[in-house]
Amino acid sequence: MTEPSTLEQSRLLRTPLPGPRSQELMARKVAAVSQGVATTMPVFAARAAGGIVEDVDGNRFIDLGSGIAVTTVGSSAARVVDAVADQVAAFTHTCFMVTPYEGYVAVAEQLARLTPGDHEKRTALFNSGSEAVENAVKIARSFTGKDAVVVFDHAYHGRTNLTMAMTAKNMPYKHGFGPFAGEVYRAPMSYPFRDAAEIDGKLAAARATSLIETQVGAENLAAVVIEPVQGEGGFIVPAPGFLSALAEWCRANDVIFVADEVQSGFGRTGTWFAVEHDDVVPDLVVSAKGIAGGLPLSAVTGRADVMDAVHPGGLGGTYGGNPLACAAALAVIETIEAEDLLTRARAIEERLLGRLRDLQASDPRIGDVRGRGAMIAAEFVDPATGDPDGAVAKAVAAYAHSQGVITLTCGTWGNVIRFLPPLSISDELLDEALDVLTTALEETK
Ligand SMILES: Cc1ncc(COP(=O)(O)O)c(C=O)c1O
Repeated sequence: MTEPSTLEQSRLLRTPLPGPRSQELMARKVAAVSQGVATTMPVFAARAAGGIVEDVDGNRFIDLGSGIAVTTVGSSAARVVDAVADQVAAFTHTCFMVTPYEGYVAVAEQLARLTPGDHEKRTALFNSGSEAVENAVKIARSFTGKDAVVVFDHAYHGRTNLTMAMTAKNMPYKHGFGPFAGEVYRAPMSYPFRDAAEIDGKLAAARATSLIETQVGAENLAAVVIEPVQGEGGFIVPAPGFLSALAEWCRANDVIFVADEVQSGFGRTGTWFAVEHDDVVPDLVVSAKGIAGGLPLSAVTGRADVMDAVHPGGLGGTYGGNPLACAAALAVIETIEAEDLLTRARAIEERLLGRLRDLQASDPRIGDVRGRGAMIAAEFVDPATGDPDGAVAKAVAAYAHSQGVITLTCGTWGNVIRFLPPLSISDELLDEALDVLTTALEETK
């Protein structure tokens, strides 16, 4: 097997940020790339491995973002590198719809094994999370013969036309891009930090299903699509019982329950899929991001009767289930199992939650600390009012960036800092990143 990367696992700032080479590249980017494609960091990557991203000036950053929850097994993980190298030498593309190949089928078999439930399942592979979410809706419509789709407040499902309609936040995802696809309805989410204390999971689900019944009608509804832990919306973990009550309502009303596990799936929360924390078995599960270690791949996996309701040729796409991405996905699954990364995700949860709760105890601007596994967040508020404070989150993240720690913000109000380290990060790097965050909080008081 390929030797593990030699990229040194330490933070290092060799130049002021951004360094000269990154500045040159940024000038080229501005001249050549649409400003619609913005970047979080002003530095350009040269290498990445373990818990470190090295830039083109030799600066080394602690990675708390994993390229937005993608490199869960680490960037350029040894098994992934080997599998992709072997595959690229064998063939790069034939199109599964023209001349099929084993890797695609093997990924589908693995997804049948790993997704919740022991019923008969089928899978279809695509390229991006958005594309897979769109296809989950197509499949649910085809099976039920119904049109409407229900999504939730704070949801993020992508940037294509249908998934923009499903995404909640206007700026930057939707602003100026309408008109959006029809028959998409939004229901209230369970948001324990912001809900009244008496709204437990069951009540929050009743609040949502009552709105669905009165404003949509179960007889018109094809699917309820939900992120079991919301991602871009602020790492919102619904109250216990919310997801299971929704799933039960869907079952009773012939509505397809779709878990969008694009961000929360593939080991990120310490289980293969985040719905497992609530013992929910979705009809369809959408995977992407962490599934293939950085190669573009996404999947819809679910009940065989639902998946097979679509006529032959109704699903697909030129690149869907590309052989390189399938080889990478099989290597990711092997890596998660061989290195027991689900346990590692739970250990990261304990470490991050512990440190962040300590910080929260002495800093009232941290209103809430939450999350599962290596998907953890701190929500910032104005201590006087409890209102969201996006400016503090932005300032804390900017300080961390300046000190060589890649952090991302999220949330409807941009007031949440999220922690999404690769599971290959060391405890030492995690601790160091949290030390930087501690200083960032001091510096922004
Ligand atoms: C929950 C969720 N669904 C869908 C998407 C869209 O995935 P992609 O960016 O691969 O299209 C994302 C991306 O962040 C996501 O977090």
